Amino acid sequence: MRHLMSPLDFSVEELDTLFRLANDIEQHRGRYAHACDGLKLATCFYEPSTRTRLSFESAMLNLGGSVIGFSDAGSSSASKGESVADTIRVVSCFADICAMRHPKEGAPMVAAQFSGIPVINAGDGGHQHPTQTLTDLLTIRSLKGRLGNFTIGLCGDLKFGRTVHSLINALVRYEGIRFVFISPEELRIPDYLIDMLKEKNIPYREVISLDDVMPELDLLYMTRVQKERFFNEEDYVRLKDFYNLDKAKMERAREDMLILHPLPRVNEISVEVDSDPRAVYFKQVQYGVYVRMALILTLLGISVRGNDE
Ligand code: NCD
Repeated sequence: MRHLMSPLDFSVEELDTLFRLANDIEQHRGRYAHACDGLKLATCFYEPSTRTRLSFESAMLNLGGSVIGFSDAGSSSASKGESVADTIRVVSCFADICAMRHPKEGAPMVAAQFSGIPVINAGDGGHQHPTQTLTDLLTIRSLKGRLGNFTIGLCGDLKFGRTVHSLINALVRYEGIRFVFISPEELRIPDYLIDMLKEKNIPYREVISLDDVMPELDLLYMTRVQKERFFNEEDYVRLKDFYNLDKAKMERAREDMLILHPLPRVNEISVEVDSDPRAVYFKQVQYGVYVRMALILTLLGISVRGNDE
């Protein structure tokens, strides 16, 4: 049985197969409409989420399956003191696959050890968010036609942003990636990631000004300041509006630069940028559904005839 805890659980070749499947789903939705008939996805969300949970639910419904679950810890037995290990043993009797989000780093990993069904990490604290990374990679691959040989700027909360951490881990496996980390001093990328980049000899720079680096980027990954992971309100208030990507800044960007954002957006991208063709963050949401469909099929070992044509 296979789980997804980190984007590195799949080899580059396996990811490639997954993305090809996702693109096939995009083009031939009808073929997959009954692939999961009679199967159930459990969404166990111990932390708020709109997009990720709905994206999983939509993915399973698109495949003909059904969905059960809870969307906050307060409405589950966790409020009675039940452990994640016990909850997943129980959920394994109700469903065929589980997507779990938890505020504690590593909780989905514990669940996977006790589970009778595949577990997908849908975000664990500030640690990893592999399905967002699959979404990001599929978006880049589909719209740029390649994964690799680009300069990517990651901007905003690089300290607490799990989407950023997961994406960096995944991207270092491709050729010719250069990172530009754009953040205030207090929200710099964690040392363990810097050490990893140094060890692998992958070029990176850390800067504070977004304006300065704009012209050199092929991709710009914007993130929100992660309010819920701050220890005090004062620091959050001081840093929350540090960046604002607006039309004026976009004028300095390349014609074919893409702006990604895992969403939710707060003030870091002005709404005036939404109509710019380079702003692909809403398309990214759609790719998220396709890639989750592909992932559910892969982890359940279901193949749909015709998808290799
Ligand atoms: C991200 C997350 O939950 O980490 N959202 C998402 O899943 N699309 C990003 C965020 O909350 O800022």
